[in-house]
Amino acid sequence: MNFSVRLGLAIGVLAAFGGVIAFLSLSGDGNTAHAGRTVRWESSRQCQECHQDVYDEWHGSHHQIAFTNPEVRKLSDDFRKEECMDCHLPRPLAVTGFGKRTLPRRTHFDEGVSCISCHLGPDGGILGRNDRPEAPCAPKRSEDFFAVEACASCHNQHWTTDQWRASRYAEEGTTCSDCHMQEVERTRADGSTRMGRSHVWPGGHDKAMLRKAGKFEVSRDGDELVLSLTNVGAGHNFPTEERHRAVDMVYRFLPAGTAPPAAQPAAAQPAAVEAGQPSPSDWTLAWRARQPYRDEATPVGPGAKPQENTQLAADATKTVRVPIPAGTAAVEARLWYRATPFCGDDSPLSTLLEERRIEL
Ligand code: HEC
Ligand code: HEC
Ligand code: HEC
Ligand code: HEC
Ligand code: HEC
Repeated sequence: MNFSVRLGLAIGVLAAFGGVIAFLSLSGDGNTAHAGRTVRWESSRQCQECHQDVYDEWHGSHHQIAFTNPEVRKLSDDFRKEECMDCHLPRPLAVTGFGKRTLPRRTHFDEGVSCISCHLGPDGGILGRNDRPEAPCAPKRSEDFFAVEACASCHNQHWTTDQWRASRYAEEGTTCSDCHMQEVERTRADGSTRMGRSHVWPGGHDKAMLRKAGKFEVSRDGDELVLSLTNVGAGHNFPTEERHRAVDMVYRFLPAGTAPPAAQPAAAQPAAVEAGQPSPSDWTLAWRARQPYRDEATPVGPGAKPQENTQLAADATKTVRVPIPAGTAAVEARLWYRATPFCGDDSPLSTLLEERRIEL
């Protein structure tokens, strides 16, 4: 057996056991169940016992559902595409190496990206921001663990981390966790409090988070309608990641005598998914921010070139001007986020972010 085969086997064995065995120190925390016992950390449920608040945040997050998420199961052909497991059911980062693409595991299917995936150290102990030898889980400080590189292990497939690196946020030292893991207060068993970090990771499924990303402005300049979108809040492109995320600026001109918007529920509106000529009272797509798939022949939206990535980089602005037809009494404009570009306004995959109306 040559060296690399043996090394490979050794790594395999190590990974299969989720790392080597860790010893828990005795603590005055009142939890003696673990005292003096040897614990092998392999499931998020072990952490739940003492970190119920963190567990509850993580449970239901897209990290926890990564392997059970119906959208992922559909696209991965129920994980018959095995390469999809690499990041959706990963072994601990530290086993593969921080910043390296993770390897798949075959256990704890309902835990997706688990506590263990992120927090297990190469020696089988727990990693955190601080050395806490007195805590029952005895976390050790690891800069690799809380660095952007750790998120990048899985989050650079579609260049989100590279986009961040090119932004002012990287320069200023505002990390992924600063925006996606906000500070929260935690209460200890003895009733005292300390600061922690939220484990919900809001992103493309969180309307409030999405609304933070874009500043949508609608105005009239002479006989032109001016629509503009600035990425003011995302530390990377807006939208980022998945090639099928899309952000649409749409508008319609209302001739005099048109019913007020309240009488026309959003669900009844036709989908503005195709570029088209403005026609009174029909929604027209002014601009779509999106990264196309490699084999897409048609541009992602009006004004784009075939294969052009129109996502808005951090701090970038896109402005579109449209002539206002004679006889227009009012203009309405909307900003939509779509989890896939192939869905209409009434789809649950579409989120209405902003709505404006200008009386002319
Ligand atoms: C027997 C109880 C117990 C278990 C089980 C446990 N922890 Fe802890 N952990 C604690 C206590 C207590 C603290 C200290 C909290 C404080 O600051 O008061 C702590 C602190 C931490 C910290 C904070 C370190 C820092 O940066 O300050 C991390 C991270 C952590 N635990 C992760 C985990 C993970 C992940 C698991 C499961 C693999 C786990 N713990 C299991 C009790 C436990
Ligand atoms: C290199 C790591 C990695 C691999 C490999 C990977 N993904 Fe993902 N996937 C991610 C990350 C990170 C996200 C979250 C970012 C996002 O939503 O765009 C994600 C999100 C998704 C989503 C969006 C889920 C939702 O609810 O909107 C789908 C669907 C998906 N992946 C399918 C797949 C399929 C199918 C494969 C295999 C062909 C795959 N992924 C392989 C990292 C990966
Ligand atoms: C081991 C791989 C892995 C690591 C490490 C990882 N993620 Fe993820 N992340 C994923 C996957 C996979 C998804 C999507 C799962 C799904 O939707 O099914 C995801 C989803 C997300 C989402 C999107 C949630 C949503 O609702 O769309 C955010 C935000 C996120 N991760 C932030 C982070 C941050 C910040 C870090 C670093 C602290 C990080 N992730 C580390 C794999 C990872
Ligand atoms: C995607 C990676 C990831 C996953 C999954 C994850 N954590 Fe964390 N966790 C982090 C990061 C990063 C920090 C440190 C944030 C910082 O201080 O910059 C952290 C901090 C903590 C802390 C200390 C701060 C606080 O809020 O108390 C505890 C405790 C903790 N995690 C426990 C857990 C437990 C328990 C689970 C599973 C239920 C879990 N983590 C899942 C990445 C993760
Ligand atoms: C300045 C704040 C900020 C920083 C820094 C930041 N993000 Fe985001 N992120 C956002 C906002 C706002 C959104 C929602 C808009 C969007 O989807 O683009 C978002 C969305 C996401 C999503 C959801 C994508 C999807 O398809 O659902 C992922 C994943 C993500 N960010 C990962 C990261 C990672 C990884 C880093 C670090 C390399 C990072 N973010 C840095 C603010 C930030």
